[in-house]
Amino acid sequence: MTAYPAIDLAGAVVAITGGAQGIGRATAEAFAVKGAQVAVGDLNDVLAKEAAAAFGGTGHPLDVTDPDSYAAFLDAVAREHGPVDVLVNNAGVMPNGGFLELDARTDRMTIEINLFGVLHGMRLVLPGMLERGRGHVVNVASLAGKFPVKGLATYNASKYAVVGLTAATRLEYADRGVSVTAVLPSAVDTALASGLDMRPIPKVKPSEIAAAVVDSVRTRKGEIAVPGYVGALASAAAITPEPALNLIRRLMRDDRALRPDSEERKAYRERLEGH
Ligand SMILES: NC(=O)c1ccc[n+]([C@@H]2O[C@H](COP(=O)([O-])OP(=O)(O)OC[C@H]3O[C@@H](n4cnc5c(N)ncnc54)[C@H](O)[C@@H]3O)[C@@H](O)[C@H]2O)c1
Repeated sequence: MTAYPAIDLAGAVVAITGGAQGIGRATAEAFAVKGAQVAVGDLNDVLAKEAAAAFGGTGHPLDVTDPDSYAAFLDAVAREHGPVDVLVNNAGVMPNGGFLELDARTDRMTIEINLFGVLHGMRLVLPGMLERGRGHVVNVASLAGKFPVKGLATYNASKYAVVGLTAATRLEYADRGVSVTAVLPSAVDTALASGLDMRPIPKVKPSEIAAAVVDSVRTRKGEIAVPGYVGALASAAAITPEPALNLIRRLMRDDRALRPDSEERKAYRERLEGH
């Protein structure tokens, strides 16, 4: 395995997208506890500033779909903290529903945020990291980047893409000191999954994903599923014959993300419409 130059978390500059709430916020806090200088970017910059203030970091406006906005965020981070040692591409959205019931505008939003957001961030941060011969990028993908779910087709597509992007860039830059890691959470207790019954997929706390992201700076593993066993289950599912897998899926009632929206889910969808 390639030995990457170590990054000492005490004093390391960590930039996190979508860090105003949920997994991003928990991750920002977990890095701050380790002594890192944390910068949070989010569409909701008021909440980003509030969140960052709680643990001594800085909050910034950011729209990951806009390369200029992303560049302005990284410029502000460089001015206030220095060059980025660790970038966590975390911002994401998850509209659910039948593929044909969701429209092209929703498809575009999902791909723009979940995939192009990551591409923009990597294009902006990698040149400096490669020049310094040191750096770490964490892309918060999803178990949905390995395991298809009815009712999450475009979200699945965005996350499979992030898993592929991560794996290929990881290979490309492995010998130049820069690591790229995909973190694959199962369901997590945040706004993004609110009101959605994802059973039997286990629902974990944002702090568990945060701990895995922080630990990736030490291990530099390529893919980290949280909880770990869901990664093994996804690998097993990938080699299970389709009739057997479909039977298991039916027994597990795998159409829950297609069901009519709960009130909580409607509220999440309405917030996304406002984006
Ligand atoms: N919650 C889950 O069940 C789950 C499971 C697997 C993976 N994930 C992934 O984890 C990541 C974080 O999700 P979460 O559950 O914390 O969601 P969340 O909805 O709680 O937080 C997402 C944050 O991203 C921000 N954001 C959205 N669009 C943005 C944009 N264009 N620019 C900048 N910021 C933007 C939002 O304002 C919000 O603060 C996402 O990539 C998501 O796909 C979540």
